[in-house]
Amino acid sequence: MAERGGIFAGDDPFVIARNWLAEAEKTEPNDPNAIALATVDADGLPNTRMVLLKDIEDDAFVFYTNYGSAKAQELDGAGKAAFVMHWKSLRRQIRVRGVIEREEGPQADAYYASRSLKSRLGAWASHQSQPLASRAALMAEVAKVTATHGPNPPRPPFWGGYRIRPVEIEFWADGAFRLHDRFRWRRNQKNDSWSVERLNP
Ligand SMILES: Cc1cc2nc3c(=O)[nH]c(=O)nc-3n(C[C@H](O)[C@H](O)[C@H](O)COP(=O)(O)O)c2cc1C
Repeated sequence: MAERGGIFAGDDPFVIARNWLAEAEKTEPNDPNAIALATVDADGLPNTRMVLLKDIEDDAFVFYTNYGSAKAQELDGAGKAAFVMHWKSLRRQIRVRGVIEREEGPQADAYYASRSLKSRLGAWASHQSQPLASRAALMAEVAKVTATHGPNPPRPPFWGGYRIRPVEIEFWADGAFRLHDRFRWRRNQKNDSWSVERLNP
């Protein structure tokens, strides 16, 4: 294996990702857990948008969204996704590609319940990615769901998580004169063991 020490050391890419995120939490001014999530639509046209990474599990990355959104249709259609996270303060990035599955069980319920009441009601009110006539129409929808679902709304059936199980994870760190360090972890399918190689910058 190519020599791999310092911030790249370790046998488990999820541990390395957690360590890097923990460092970024101390140095980034905002949203250190923001990821640019890439999907493809039914025509193969790529799409990206930011979402917040909510969990790095032992074998997966988890984020939450609306199951009626454009991204959800693209995720469900392709069954695959990629994301990148970049920390300007650390000059590092992590790239992930993998297969996706929904998280719509107790874990999604627990995360939903942990959010502020206004965010929980907002999830009910937003028909994410659908056209909206006006801001006032959205606020009317918020008032409506507040009346309907009261002070303790359940998780909407159209809102929950996605888990990305990677087949590829790349760790990148800025080097002097653009001679950056890159290590790519790959496996053929989830549950296989990883192989790691150093890549040219
Ligand atoms: C920093 C940041 C974090 C965001 N986090 C989320 C998120 O966790 N979940 C989500 O559904 N949208 C999030 N959004 C909004 C998405 O970028 C996007 O506008 C929305 O999900 C609709 O995307 P879609 O039409 O491709 O489905 C975030 C936006 C930004 C800028």
